[in-house]
Amino acid sequence: MDGKVAIITGSSRGIGKAIAIDFAKKGASIVLNGRNEVRLAEAKAEILKIHNKVITVCCDVSQKEAGEQLINAAIDKFGKLDILVNNVGVSSRGKVADLNPEVFESVFSSNLMGTVNPTIPAIPELRKTQGSIVFISSLAGIRGLPVLSAYCSSKMALRAIAESIRIEEKEHNIHVGLIYVGITQIEHNKEAIASDGSMVILNDRDNKKVQSTEYVARQVSKNIKKRKFITTLTRIGKINAFMAPRFPLLVERLILKNLHKFEEKSK
Ligand SMILES: NC(=O)c1ccc[n+]([C@@H]2O[C@H](COP(=O)([O-])OP(=O)(O)OC[C@H]3O[C@@H](n4cnc5c(N)ncnc54)[C@H](OP(=O)(O)O)[C@@H]3O)[C@@H](O)[C@H]2O)c1
Repeated sequence: MDGKVAIITGSSRGIGKAIAIDFAKKGASIVLNGRNEVRLAEAKAEILKIHNKVITVCCDVSQKEAGEQLINAAIDKFGKLDILVNNVGVSSRGKVADLNPEVFESVFSSNLMGTVNPTIPAIPELRKTQGSIVFISSLAGIRGLPVLSAYCSSKMALRAIAESIRIEEKEHNIHVGLIYVGITQIEHNKEAIASDGSMVILNDRDNKKVQSTEYVARQVSKNIKKRKFITTLTRIGKINAFMAPRFPLLVERLILKNLHKFEEKSK
């Protein structure tokens, strides 16, 4: 990580900020991103306590021009790009039957286009450095889960993109990492998209019972260091990743049995 240049999308808070701090502590130059200037400035202040190799790019990655904006900022300031972490992601709630179709549009706009937009202009730069693209997925990207259909399908799409890039860029030796993240600490006021398309604030979590954002960040660093493809976090995640493709009906039965827990946990 020392001497590397990393862009982390959605790094003004939550998991993205923890990744930025972890990379900075290991010596990387950091490009922070988010849509809110105030939050970005606060995150930058935290990196400045570690070193001064940090810039912020305030833009919405679901917009096409934001991709170029991010990559150009990294090249202009630091001269190269070694790592792109596609971390931006928003979750959704609601049974398919109750969803306004716009929920799918919003979720895919953030989670899919918000990944594609920075990834395309990053690839030529990452070819030069034989760098890494990391996709932050979720255990919800392993199989379809109740009340999370839009989120699950957007995260599943990341796997397809990751697999395509791995083959396409083999000769350029670009590392592609896909991280299946389990339930993690969240910041107060974290939002998700409700079934009618409006934003809702999620309930605070008992942050002692879930993995920390710092732990997730360390696993992302490890994935990059080892140039691994898939990293699956949490015990339940590893069990799910093993069982879902092999015993889909058994997994479905287990989920049906615990339906109320799913609905409760996703509030
Ligand atoms: N937390 C979990 O339990 C969990 C579990 C599995 C997977 N994940 C995945 O981990 C990633 C991060 O989750 P999180 O819980 O840390 O999220 P979060 O707390 O909601 O933070 C999201 C970050 O992304 C920024 N952002 C959101 N939309 C953006 C956009 N369109 N353009 C630029 N920046 C944007 C936000 O800042 P602004 O709002 O100011 O733009 C913020 O910095 C997501 O991909 C999520 O799906 C999280």
